[in-house]
Amino acid sequence: MTISWLPNRSRTAPDHVDVALSRGGAAQLRPLHAGETEPLLAVFEALSPASRFDRYLVGVPRLPSPMLHALVDVDGHDHVAWLATVAGRPAGIARSIRVAPDTAEIAFEVADAHQGRGLGTVLMDTVTTVAAAQGVRRITATVLPSNAPSLRLLARLGIPLTLRDGLLEGEGPLRLLDPARVDRHAVVALAQRQDGPVGQEGLVTSADA
Ligand SMILES: CC(C)(COP(=O)(O)OP(=O)(O)OC[C@H]1O[C@@H](n2cnc3c(N)ncnc32)[C@H](O)[C@@H]1OP(=O)(O)O)[C@@H](O)C(=O)NCCC(=O)NCCS
Repeated sequence: MTISWLPNRSRTAPDHVDVALSRGGAAQLRPLHAGETEPLLAVFEALSPASRFDRYLVGVPRLPSPMLHALVDVDGHDHVAWLATVAGRPAGIARSIRVAPDTAEIAFEVADAHQGRGLGTVLMDTVTTVAAAQGVRRITATVLPSNAPSLRLLARLGIPLTLRDGLLEGEGPLRLLDPARVDRHAVVALAQRQDGPVGQEGLVTSADA
């Protein structure tokens, strides 16, 4: 199946996208703005040491300033991050960082209290949707072999993984989740407000694989 869209260049565009979570409840999604450390730190504080290790692949008791600033050095195109809030509180972040003209590395984190409710899936769908609309055609990701939820997420994208130096490294064509877990028109329209016009090409979903 191929998805095409015409982003809605709405005059009264909302500043977030609402989403219902698969296991109940709702979240709001929006791009993280450049230099916006507060929600990023709130999500970091809500990660257990084990989740921080899974996310950063090393123990990270606190975010050193250079790392913090690198994480909020988003530009909406080569470095894209989206924030999920639940009941108005930061609950998760997903990002894609372009590592080659058509390739981006993805990473995500969900506050421990919100894990297992479908939020990671929603965030992954959001950030891959934006990446695809901006011309990314391949994605990479690195996870610990013990990270079962991440392996499930990457399996859903159909990325082959290779064990290297104790880490699983994945790279493959970017195929969007099928069915969509977010309103992709709304996501692209909101991304467009941050980044200017984004692609309107048809996109391949995981159902095409
Ligand atoms: C990876 C992470 C983002 C997933 O977020 P989440 O909100 O729990 O994800 P979801 O609820 O959408 O679940 C994703 C999949 O993992 C599965 N899953 C969730 N928790 C699981 C667990 N403890 N064990 C096994 N599978 C699990 C879900 O069933 C789902 O698979 P399915 O769609 O086939 O049913 C979250 O666990 C996290 O932040 N972990 C720490 C940081 C990290 O590992 N980041 C990824 C590396 S960059």
